[in-house]
Amino acid sequence: MEILLFDSPDDVARVGADIVERAVRRPAGAVLGLATGTSPLGIYRELIRRHRDDGLSFASTRAFLLDEYVGLARDHPASYARFIESEFVGQVDFAPGAADGPNGTAADLVAECERYEAAIAAAGGIDVQLLGIGADGHIGFNEPGSSLGSRTRIKTLTAKTRADNARFFSSSPDDVPRHVLTQGVGTISRAGHLVLVALGKAKAAPIALAVEGPVTAMVPASALQLHPHVTVLLDTAAASRLRLIDYYRETQAGKPPWQVP
Ligand code: GLP
Repeated sequence: MEILLFDSPDDVARVGADIVERAVRRPAGAVLGLATGTSPLGIYRELIRRHRDDGLSFASTRAFLLDEYVGLARDHPASYARFIESEFVGQVDFAPGAADGPNGTAADLVAECERYEAAIAAAGGIDVQLLGIGADGHIGFNEPGSSLGSRTRIKTLTAKTRADNARFFSSSPDDVPRHVLTQGVGTISRAGHLVLVALGKAKAAPIALAVEGPVTAMVPASALQLHPHVTVLLDTAAASRLRLIDYYRETQAGKPPWQVP
């Protein structure tokens, strides 16, 4: 697991965008795993800028979302399908239908989860998976207690996550759906390269648990410790509770120029 610390969110966004750009520019094209939430927004904005200014093309790229609310149609203002379309996919040149997400309004949600797993597999798996982290250590919508081997399935949100996400809905946490579809921790763990982004003081505690605590279903993000290729991009506030912070800084400062995340 590589821990990289930056003074500003712009630097986090630049390095995150570099990782995505390298994958997207591969001749075979890339399969991206896209996260919602505020953490990856800087990366998306930087990629949109590179598309407009530098001609970075996503025409051969496919994408899969991490998760979706049950019961929200794709055009609902708070749906994750709508979020990713307006914040990223719709602002660059993905081919029509190249970005998929779990359908939270499917008549048969169990069958939809199976369809989604099969679609990821048929695309050859995810090359680069962007991730944020919830205050309780969740990734995607895998709340504490999620099996570390889980696949895409229906989950129930904790009261804390519903309160945290109420800002995307018109009023209270009561408007936030109780149920979601989410890639499982096991699904996420099969991606080739996991890129976890965390910004701000509120993420310092879950990051310390995920990176330096025991691997446990109580902190689903701790499953990243078992993955062979993980990059954690942090601003100084999100890194502030890491015990080995001086070591991470020293390692980062001594990186040879050819060694990219
Ligand atoms: C939601 C999403 C997660 C995201 C988390 C943190 O719960 N399902 O994928 O990582 O929020 O969001 P933010 O980046 O806004 O802090």
